Parts: sequence; C-alpha cells; structure tokens
Amino acid sequence: MDQYQDKILDHNYDGIQEFDNPMPGWWKAIFVLTVIWAAVYLIGIELNIIPRYGDDLKAGQDELLAMRQAHEKSQPKIVVDDAMLLAALGDADKLAQGKEVFLTNCASCHGNVAQGGIGPNLTDDFWLYGQKPIEIHKTISKGTANGMPPWESVLPPEEVVSLVVFVSSTRGTNPAGAKEPQGEKYDPPSKDSSETEKPDEKAPTPAEESKG
Ligand code: HEC
Repeated sequence: MDQYQDKILDHNYDGIQEFDNPMPGWWKAIFVLTVIWAAVYLIGIELNIIPRYGDDLKAGQDELLAMRQAHEKSQPKIVVDDAMLLAALGDADKLAQGKEVFLTNCASCHGNVAQGGIGPNLTDDFWLYGQKPIEIHKTISKGTANGMPPWESVLPPEEVVSLVVFVSSTRGTNPAGAKEPQGEKYDPPSKDSSETEKPDEKAPTPAEESKG
C-alpha cells in the first residue's frame, strides 16, 4: 500500500473525512470475474449447455418415476378372490402375521382379542358388512361410512389378507368383555336363509368346542 499516498478529499461532513484511494486489486479481480461469468452464463444458457430450472425439475421427476416403477415391480401382485382367501384361512404364518398386524393397527378400536370396543366385536356371529372372507377383506380394505377406516393404502396387500385370516380365526372365541352383537346374525354351520349364501360356503373351523 506504500505506492498510494493517502490523499484526503477536501470535503468534511461534521468531522467525517474521506480518502481517495483506488479499490484493492482483489476486489477489482472479483468484479472482473463476475462480468466474465455473466457472459459465460448467458451464452451457456442460450446454447442449452447449462441446464435450466425446467431441465433440473424434469430430471428429478424422471428419477422419481423410475424409482416408483422399480418399487411397483418389486411388490408382489396378489389377486384376492374367494378361493385365494379360503386357501389362506388355514395358513399358520398368515394367522401369526395377522395377529401381529391386528394388535398394532386394530386393537385400539376392536380390542386385543377382537372382543370389540369402539368398533364391533369380531368374534361373534353378528356382522354388519358380512362374514365371508371376501366381505371382511372388502370392509378392511375400503373401510365403512361409520368409523371403520380404509386400510388398503396403509397396509401392504398381503397384510390385509393376513388380517382376514386372523379375524376369521377369532369367531366363536367368546372373549371376556365381549361387546354386544351388532348387525345380522350369520349361522355358519347351518343353512342361512339369506340369498347371498352359497351352498359351497366353508364353515369356519374351531368355533364349536370353545363355545360350550
Ligand atoms: C378408529 C377405530 C377403528 C380401527 C383402528 C379399526 N376399526 Fe374396524 N371398525 C370400526 C368401526 C367403528 C366399525 C363399524 C363400522 C360401521 O358400523 O360402519 C368397524 C368395523 C369393522 C369390521 C366389520 C364388522 C362387521 O360387523 O361387519 C371389520 C371386519 C373390521 N372393522 C376390522 C378391522 C381391522 C382388521 C382393523 C385393523 C386393520 C380395524 N378394523 C381397525 C373402527 C375401527
């Protein structure tokens, strides 16, 4: 800084005075660089060498889409119908999984052993929305207007199937503190008069002995 003479400008604002020194070299260098960068940027943008906001957005969206598609492909597709559910009823693994999922998601409203609470007792022969596995599956998946939440977007499909297995297994367990019956009575072993009943309907299994 010795090459500069500290030259004081000859104005004086209430004792505040001003030097007349040149800008520091580093400051001028940064300024020149910003001017050069402005030119580079302008040309880069105009020639599409530098990606624009829209390009970045599209790249991000494409990446997301690819991830979603890969995830969907990795999910096993399961077809839920009467036969599939009836076959699942005897599956011990599904029963165990169903019990676990039930305790986590359903017990708060239906009780630990499905005896009922805010939601209906699921162990009796009375059903608001039908007692067939496919009907129970629909109730759980889609929910109902009176407070049963839909679960198809919350739980993976195979867990909903396991829930049907568990709920079907609790029939006739007569738990303590069971909620009073709600809905229509279905008599699994005998013939039901309702026209929706199919002759090949399988009677749910171990209900009888525990009933007493
Ligand atoms: C927020 C409380 C709540 C939760 C959590 C809940 N339910 Fe329900 N559930 C209800 C209510 C209330 C009803 C009765 C709905 C109606 O009358 O429309 C019901 C009805 C049902 C029915 C039909 C019963 C019948 O009589 O037809 C089934 C089956 C059922 N729930 C299973 C489940 C399963 C399985 C889960 C866990 C994934 C679950 N619920 C979680 C409140 C709940």
